[in-house]
Amino acid sequence: MTGSRPIVRPLSESDVDVVRDLVGGSFAPNLSPFMVATQHGWTDYLRLKLAHPELHHGQCLAVVELAGEVVAFGDYRSNAGSGFLSYICVAESARQRGLARALFAWQVEQGGPVDRVSLDVFRDNVPAMRMYESMGFREVEEAVWWSAPVDNSSLTELGEALDVDCPDLHVSVAALERFGFCQIRARVGGRDMVFGRLGRAVVRVPSMGGPHERRLLGALTAAFPDIEVVFAVVPKGLPAQMPAATEVTAAVRMECLEPSLITRAGRLPT
Ligand SMILES: CC(C)(COP(=O)(O)OP(=O)(O)OC[C@H]1O[C@@H](n2cnc3c(N)ncnc32)[C@H](O)[C@@H]1OP(=O)(O)O)[C@@H](O)C(=O)NCCC(=O)NCCS
Repeated sequence: MTGSRPIVRPLSESDVDVVRDLVGGSFAPNLSPFMVATQHGWTDYLRLKLAHPELHHGQCLAVVELAGEVVAFGDYRSNAGSGFLSYICVAESARQRGLARALFAWQVEQGGPVDRVSLDVFRDNVPAMRMYESMGFREVEEAVWWSAPVDNSSLTELGEALDVDCPDLHVSVAALERFGFCQIRARVGGRDMVFGRLGRAVVRVPSMGGPHERRLLGALTAAFPDIEVVFAVVPKGLPAQMPAATEVTAAVRMECLEPSLITRAGRLPT
């Protein structure tokens, strides 16, 4: 690949399988159950977005091509003056040549003016942290990813007293079947909540709190008996009160209040 000039361009339908492998190989395997991009139908989800641009207004899905091969991917979205980057990754063989910076800069330019750009990065991801710091990002908060096995029998009893009403359940189930992930809007015990399903086994909940959250989870597991693991991303310092909860990883929210630094840092290498 030496000598050829990288091209940054929008994602196209024919890139989707390569991008799935690129993203799948870029993050630690223990994170896979908890990430959207590693679920079985993420490629269908990308294809659907490409076929219906109106579904991703403000989103810039882009790749870098080097010598005819797609070697980098990033998902950037901007809305109401804020930008957010996820899933940026570069094939190992093409790293440390300025491609991630160039891709990110291109996406921010394409997205139009914003006042701030944010992203989440795993605390132990030194290359990425260094890159973001060099583009003007600073840490603003830290969160912990927690997971816990679901003990169906005792939870279901706890939750039986609560009414669960999911008005769009058919849509959520259809999305889960096709994409391997979905959101579930539910009214649980009179409270409106949003849950996530990541595969059949994992449910994402808003917090890993105490008895009230356990009752909510109980109501959910009564409604969806195939749930085996509960997952939450919780601000650092808040204890996880689910029994047998373990820390999966720690993620840092970083923010850049001068997006011109990102675009300036990302001139394509020659
Ligand atoms: C993080 C990642 C995207 C960087 O891609 P890249 O194309 O190699 O990065 P660039 O060449 O554009 O480097 C930009 C800066 O990142 C930092 N950096 C990149 N690799 C580094 C490394 N191995 N060690 C330390 N710093 C590193 C440097 O500050 C570098 O600037 P410099 O070359 O002026 O020193 C790539 O390592 C990757 O795909 N990792 C796996 C997926 C991932 O972790 N994504 C981030 C999700 S938040």
